[in-house]
Amino acid sequence: MDKLIIRGSGPVDGEIRISGSKNSALPILAATLLADGPMHICNMPHLNDVTTMLALLRCMGVEVTIDEKMCVEIDPSTITEFTAPYDLVKTMRASILVLGPMLSHFGVANVSFPGGCAIGSRPVDIHLRGLEAMGAKIEVDEGYIRAKVDGRLKGAHIFMDVVTVGGTENLLMAAVLADGKTVLENAAREPEIVDLANCLVAMGANIEGIGSDTLVIHGVKRLQGCTYNVMPDRIETGTYLVAAATSGGRVKLKDTCGVILESVLLKLEEAGASLNMGDDWIELNMNGNRPKSVNLRTAPYPAFPTDMQAQFTAMNAVAEGSATVVETIFENRLIQIHELNRMGANITLEGNTAIIKGVERLKGAPVMATDLRASASLVIAGMVAEGETIVDRIYHIDRGYECIEEKMQQLGANIRRMPG
Ligand code: EPZ
Repeated sequence: MDKLIIRGSGPVDGEIRISGSKNSALPILAATLLADGPMHICNMPHLNDVTTMLALLRCMGVEVTIDEKMCVEIDPSTITEFTAPYDLVKTMRASILVLGPMLSHFGVANVSFPGGCAIGSRPVDIHLRGLEAMGAKIEVDEGYIRAKVDGRLKGAHIFMDVVTVGGTENLLMAAVLADGKTVLENAAREPEIVDLANCLVAMGANIEGIGSDTLVIHGVKRLQGCTYNVMPDRIETGTYLVAAATSGGRVKLKDTCGVILESVLLKLEEAGASLNMGDDWIELNMNGNRPKSVNLRTAPYPAFPTDMQAQFTAMNAVAEGSATVVETIFENRLIQIHELNRMGANITLEGNTAIIKGVERLKGAPVMATDLRASASLVIAGMVAEGETIVDRIYHIDRGYECIEEKMQQLGANIRRMPG
């Protein structure tokens, strides 16, 4: 297994380009199953999870071609299989996102039941209950979700008990081809859902309330292919901003924007960062200062995103002062603190709250990545620690960060990949 070897160095300073959003690309790739003709999706990030989703579409007979600029052309009209197999779903839970579009367009879908992962049990009960409310017959058999509907799904009024990004995306994609009106209440409002909805509208869908917690979808009979550019990755953006803040450095990020990351930018200003931004760039400068500790509590958008919690834990570990970090979305998403404590951090865990007393300096150590964003927090910690840090199991990080070592090297970090 590949490892990342990092030697602590001084403040980062440099400029990098942000890739397209993983968490927007994945549902948009699933949405191509709704189209009657070819789709062109551009600004696709070059990530393992995207590769897995393309492999999933291919194994169903969908024609996928990729050009050198990572624009993909997808023609769902060649589909032959309506099954998302276990060996692909087990590597990427987001495969569940093909369930809604496949069922809505083809009347049948067999998707391996996604298991939990390091950060939590990750149930999909809201996805399934919503599809049943739209008339789907669903059973779980031998580890597979087997869904079918005679004719079209029917519009329904659905109240989601929990704010779920994936559940909102699956039910939105199911509703756009359903017969009649669907109301999704208590819908998630993440920018990636807005991006998906905008793509569906470009395909001919009729959706009201985009960006709000109540989506009203008037089903249409068919959707055509379109060309669509995936939005910038706001979590990759936040990760590099936190790397600069943690090291007391400066970074300029291009092909991204700040409006989708407001709660994170406010926390970075609280930590002492000066921020400038334009339509498609953000610059952060710490002017050589040590960050100040910031309290945070994760919650659905527009509140502070759970996907940025681990990175801020790393920053707080070396910040001036003490802070509490409360994780309210996933039951096991503070696991990175054990590895940070092995690097000399002073963090105690009380239920879903981490109490972090900033230390002057961490010490490099061999550490192990457990999930995507926890891996990023260990890379950030290694960049400011004294000595060498070896981050193992970095396949987690390759799922969600394009060329992380090259981009960090561009910022002056001493980081290299050791093939395992
Ligand atoms: C999406 O996961 C993201 N993944 C996650 O990013 C992100 O952390 C999460 O949303 C929250 O923002 C993608 O977009 C591919 P949820 P998802 O359904 O959709 C509960 C990353 O690092 N729930 O919003 O799986 C669930 O247990 C990844 O890029 C139910 O109870 O998350 C959790 O407590 C990690 N029943 C809460 O909702 C359901 O049917 C939020 O989960 C569905 C969810």
